[in-house]
Amino acid sequence: MSVNAQAVTALEARHVLQTYKRQPVVFVRGEGTRLFDADGRPYLDFISGIGVVVLGHAHPGLAAVIAEQAKTLVHTSNLYYHPLQGQLAARLAELSGLQRSFFCNSGTEAVEACLKFARRYWYSQGVKDRTGYVALDHGFSGRTMGALSVTANAHYRDPFGPLIPGVTFVSPDDIAGLEAAVTESTAAVIAEPIQGEGGVRPLSPEFAAAIARVTRKTGTLLIADEIQCGLGRTGRPFHYQSLGWTPDLVTVGKAIGSGIPIGAALVAEHVAGQIFAGDHGTTYGGNLLSTRAALYVLEQLAALAPHISETGALFEQQLLDLQRKHPVVTAVRGAGLMRGLELSVDAQPVAAAALEAGLLVNRTAERVVRMLPPLTVSASEIAEAIAILDSALVAVAASTVEVKA
Ligand SMILES: Cc1ncc(COP(=O)(O)O)c(C=O)c1O
Repeated sequence: MSVNAQAVTALEARHVLQTYKRQPVVFVRGEGTRLFDADGRPYLDFISGIGVVVLGHAHPGLAAVIAEQAKTLVHTSNLYYHPLQGQLAARLAELSGLQRSFFCNSGTEAVEACLKFARRYWYSQGVKDRTGYVALDHGFSGRTMGALSVTANAHYRDPFGPLIPGVTFVSPDDIAGLEAAVTESTAAVIAEPIQGEGGVRPLSPEFAAAIARVTRKTGTLLIADEIQCGLGRTGRPFHYQSLGWTPDLVTVGKAIGSGIPIGAALVAEHVAGQIFAGDHGTTYGGNLLSTRAALYVLEQLAALAPHISETGALFEQQLLDLQRKHPVVTAVRGAGLMRGLELSVDAQPVAAAALEAGLLVNRTAERVVRMLPPLTVSASEIAEAIAILDSALVAVAASTVEVKA
């Protein structure tokens, strides 16, 4: 089927709510780490649908599983049992150590569920005024009212106030501030082990340890938001496992379906014991299609762990080489296959030059080039991406000089 790119954008401009600033490209097909636009031009995809398509595009095994499930049974609702939710919850329990799962359809919904479960935990025990949350500067947990309330970016928040009250933001550099903010009125602390949208910022080991200490001391629940950094992205099932955390709640999204929408709130048994029938629910969450896809994705991810460690180290090395070569690169951050290049200038021209040259990366937090390739990415694809970034950085440095002159 041929696609007219201009007709696509014109139709969207008339009928799709204009909440996104899309890049000027229409994708129609994918294969592994490549996407193809309406003219058949290939692009190396180092954003993978914002950290989602972990098995690569059009993965034949995933396609077969989805097709088979679609021909068998797609959806029945949560009014009835089906065989797959329990299997997926058991597998997530093995990976995380948190015994129970609540399934939903997106990362944001997983965050909403965890925020509710944290309050319900205290309410069930008669502590009805323990309702506050502590979240972090640069943190991003989604755009619905609850998730937005624990998301730091004023640009996302300000037009939608009043948000839910009782949220205190703390700088991830400020341990004393954290210790002052987390009290016996705090229901939960929510934090991303590596802040994604906020600029690919790993929490420092000291700050992560302070979160563990202060939550333990006050009995406050800890919600690890693993939606972007979890499920293999950094080489481990969950990144909190490298921080010495024992979270009470964990949010899961993005990678778990490799493109089939599914999210999960993982819940430790002591919290689960305070949640009761009717406390939360969803029509689609955990249906047969999405749980079947997720079971398949988790099976594939287990086999990919050594590959992720190897390619992640290689990727870091080559990004550090770029930093040595280009003064405009001020930092290389991240872990595994979640990487950010911080620049001394706006990252948008670099992302645009990369797109022009056939590489998809994403600008976040203004000065950061974010990269989240499929977890199947090869060493030669990494080398190819680095070569394109190298040229994009040269082009942007040259144009910056021109502007100054
Ligand atoms: C850490 C984190 N939490 C929550 C979300 C929201 O997830 P979703 O966009 O799937 O609703 C995101 C999405 O980027 C995220 O990175």
